[in-house]
Amino acid sequence: MMNKQDNDLFGIEYNEENRCFTLQMEHSTYIMGLAGAEIQAQTGSEGMAGRKDYLGHVYYGKKVRSGAGRALLREKEYSYMDGKPGDKCTFMDGFPFEYSFGGTGDFRPDSLEVRNADGFVGCELTYRGYRIFDGKKKLEGLPATFPGKSASASGISEDTKTLEIDLEDTALGLVVTLSYSIFRGLDVVARSVRVANEGARAVALEKCLSACIELPWENREIVTLSGSWARERSIDRRPIGHGRVEVGSKRGISSHQEHPFLAICSEDAGEEKGEVLAMSFVYSGSFTAEVERTQHDALRAGMGLSDHNFSWTLTPGSSFQAPEVLLVYSAEGFGGMSRTFHTLFREHLIRSPWLHKKRPILINNWEATYFDFNKEKLLEIARVAKSAGIEMLVMDDGWFGRRSSDNSSLGDWVVNEEKLPGGMKALADEINALGMELGVWFEPEMICPDSDLYRDHPDWALAIPGRAASECRSQFVLDLTRPEVRDYVVEIISGILESANIAYVKWDMNRPLTDLGSTMTAGGEILHRYMLGVYELQERILERFPKLLLENCTSGGGRFDPGMLYYSPQIWCSDDTDAMERLSIQEGTTLIYPPSAVGAHVSICPNHIVGRTTSFATRGVVALAGTFGYELDITKLSEEELAEVRGQVEQYHAYNDLIREGDFFRICSMSPLSKNNTDRPSYAWMSVAGDRSEALLSYVQVRGGANLRSEVLYLQGLDPKGVYQLQDGRQFGGDELMNMGFVTDRIWGDGASTLYHFVRVS
Ligand code: DGJ
Repeated sequence: MMNKQDNDLFGIEYNEENRCFTLQMEHSTYIMGLAGAEIQAQTGSEGMAGRKDYLGHVYYGKKVRSGAGRALLREKEYSYMDGKPGDKCTFMDGFPFEYSFGGTGDFRPDSLEVRNADGFVGCELTYRGYRIFDGKKKLEGLPATFPGKSASASGISEDTKTLEIDLEDTALGLVVTLSYSIFRGLDVVARSVRVANEGARAVALEKCLSACIELPWENREIVTLSGSWARERSIDRRPIGHGRVEVGSKRGISSHQEHPFLAICSEDAGEEKGEVLAMSFVYSGSFTAEVERTQHDALRAGMGLSDHNFSWTLTPGSSFQAPEVLLVYSAEGFGGMSRTFHTLFREHLIRSPWLHKKRPILINNWEATYFDFNKEKLLEIARVAKSAGIEMLVMDDGWFGRRSSDNSSLGDWVVNEEKLPGGMKALADEINALGMELGVWFEPEMICPDSDLYRDHPDWALAIPGRAASECRSQFVLDLTRPEVRDYVVEIISGILESANIAYVKWDMNRPLTDLGSTMTAGGEILHRYMLGVYELQERILERFPKLLLENCTSGGGRFDPGMLYYSPQIWCSDDTDAMERLSIQEGTTLIYPPSAVGAHVSICPNHIVGRTTSFATRGVVALAGTFGYELDITKLSEEELAEVRGQVEQYHAYNDLIREGDFFRICSMSPLSKNNTDRPSYAWMSVAGDRSEALLSYVQVRGGANLRSEVLYLQGLDPKGVYQLQDGRQFGGDELMNMGFVTDRIWGDGASTLYHFVRVS
């Protein structure tokens, strides 16, 4: 039966007649169908299980009417043997399972792998029932999206709807609940999975992904983000051939190397056009994201917890909650995808009271002094910074224990009074007296072998009994799977935060997890329980200090992911503060995350990481595209440079509301997504106010060249009927700027830049 067209509908429904579930979003539709009871009934377990359907994936894409497209399940097509249309094994290996399971005939990537009490791997999920309700449930102990502002205290909102579908394995006694939430106005499906053991015997989950999706193959490409320390989130794009592509992390952090994100796009997809289907994992630890182009040229993509060193025992009566995966559909290319993620994160993920506030302009002493500082030096920096309009001093690593290099003292969170006479309070009082705020660096998850904490509690470090753990930056990782270790960390950090007026915390984490042994926790559960421990720590600290501005950091951007954003409105993007390198790092980051979350500072030249010199002005233009701050010894700047700082501070105050709250558009770049533009080594991006009344265009020429003409940039997001005036008085039509293009001023030199501020005048 054909339903009416649902183009204006937002909601979720189950259609009895054709046994399909439909999720209707702003411009997209997601459909699943029940099928295959005949196949299931062939099994010897028929008497026990009866005839039950499987849940299949029908469609995810541009809006279609509810319940359409059931033929895409191709129920009768899977046999390759003539005259045997109901062959179960071939059915299992071809049917587009909505949530795949291993061991019973499906040889494509599994979402769920279960080992029973006798050690055998096998699972078969059939349909049991469903529920549809307004709002969205919390995921116990995990970061996750939440209903928007219109929600009641208990999370009920008509603007957020949830479908829960129960699948079951009757032989194992497992109930697997798939959860789907949608948000009015957004092309997003938030998915998660809960597995409950209702059987009589324990089972082990060997793999438990959060989402699986089946797509027909239509010359698709895959986009992922990869890199290394100080080279995070570089955009990688390639065609999807046969076989499997996997990105992931086994490091216990989402990592600098790969990112918990993947996008499948049409070949023609660019910044403004083409189809993109993206998956983002709300998690900060080890993960996997995989796509297989199957023997029949379909694509199966999955995302969730890494199955490396993962084995979770489910005793009878217990359950396991897998974290959330966010699906975004865009028919407006990568730009549309990014803006959907940005809105989703700003309205449904970041909880901080700082989210919509202008953050204080900070100066961090790391690149200014490294470990070599004392109170006098910090105050000297603060005084000059204050005179230039900077609002907060952040004291980085080295203020505690006997830490004068990275060799010792993590865990000993006691102020070093040789460096800071009078302790934290005296420093905070003097900084406050200057009219500035104080921020402080911590690395709470670590313990140095050379620390009093380790001498007292050697078993508090993760290590495999009988094996010496690997040191990294002269430190071990605390066993945060243990409640007493978490209590210690919360108490010691809270003590410091209570002892003085500290407005901001930089929460650092500087090594991957290795040597996964614990005196308390089973090996296969350590990685995930560790992550749950980190989330608990941040939750408890924020409950105690709700006004705190928290910035997460993991050797730069090693845990820049939606999980951490649930706790901190901003994350240090990379230890590479070089403005030219930051162009691509920040571009890769804003593919998913809003500029308001991107920690970005102006630092000194030659740059400490790459040795490059870039103009002070361009360093400001690039840092303005994030949270903005400084990371240099301001006492050593010349008068001219100090005047530039004052100018940048003014720019921050003039433009930050627009950058923080506006819609973000990438206009041109050197990335493989920017197919529709020039081959010039330049970057341009725009922030446009929600009501299109003003826009800021930032343009950076990475490399100058001989005899180059000015560049033509096709602006986006403006009102085509509006007239916009630049700061120099020139006026342009919105249609003109977007369709004919804006001709940049000719600029000279490598790394030169210009900021163009457009205000609509009619
Ligand atoms: C790594 C961070 O990314 C840096 O900004 C700095 O805080 C150092 N750690 C301090 O050890």
